[in-house]
Amino acid sequence: MPLEISDDAVNVFRRDGFLFPLRVMSAIEAGSYRACLEAVEAERGSLTGKFRSLKHHLVMTWLDGLIRRPEILDPVAKVLGPDILCWSTSLLIKEPGDGAHVSWHQDLTYWGLEPGDVVTAWLALSPVTRQNGCMRMLRGSHASRLAHADTEDDSNLLSRGQTITAGIDEDKVVYLELEPGEISLHHGNTAHASDPNASDERRIGLAIRYIATRVHPTEGQDSAMLVRGVDRFEHFDAESRPTADFDAVAMTEHDRVMALRRGVMMEKG
Ligand code: NI
Repeated sequence: MPLEISDDAVNVFRRDGFLFPLRVMSAIEAGSYRACLEAVEAERGSLTGKFRSLKHHLVMTWLDGLIRRPEILDPVAKVLGPDILCWSTSLLIKEPGDGAHVSWHQDLTYWGLEPGDVVTAWLALSPVTRQNGCMRMLRGSHASRLAHADTEDDSNLLSRGQTITAGIDEDKVVYLELEPGEISLHHGNTAHASDPNASDERRIGLAIRYIATRVHPTEGQDSAMLVRGVDRFEHFDAESRPTADFDAVAMTEHDRVMALRRGVMMEKG
């Protein structure tokens, strides 16, 4: 199911800072990924929580395959160009009645990446609605960096409660509802937020963070995985693909990478 996005759609992304919905697989296939995830949860417990939801594609072969699907990479390549690294993945699960929320923020303000050729593909593995806490985005906000302040709020999924201090123009806010198997794309600088899950169903998303190979860490050492094209820059340590789920080699690689990342990556939401 190759997905050709039109030049018009690319222009919408460049104007608004996000684009949705794009169907990248059938609802049935999304359901089979969800079943994979829930089988792992049944065996190993929750895969989410502050700092615990990152880079599971290094330890699960089905996620390693998912981040390389051409239906996802083709539209990402329209924005980032042909040489693409997967910098991170985050499982973003809100349980029914979960009071956790994400305050307004721009990812690139604390991700330590320059230049800002950073796109998140956010894949719905459940229905994602206003009621269960879909993302909302501020149209056009990727064009500038907004001031943020840390807040003390344990229900905020962001590690330091990073919050945009300026008022939000509600006329420019869009709610990104998705069906299972659909993605949204958003630029690393697009302001976004999400509400608690007020429904009786799980909200399950996978955020895949893609960067162009020309991007570099602003400080320290970091790692990423080449998923398309050629890396002529080698700004990031290359990560190894898993060959078996949660085997010792994969777990050691995940530990290595998370140790590198600990000082760099601050966000869960
Ligand atoms: Ni974010």
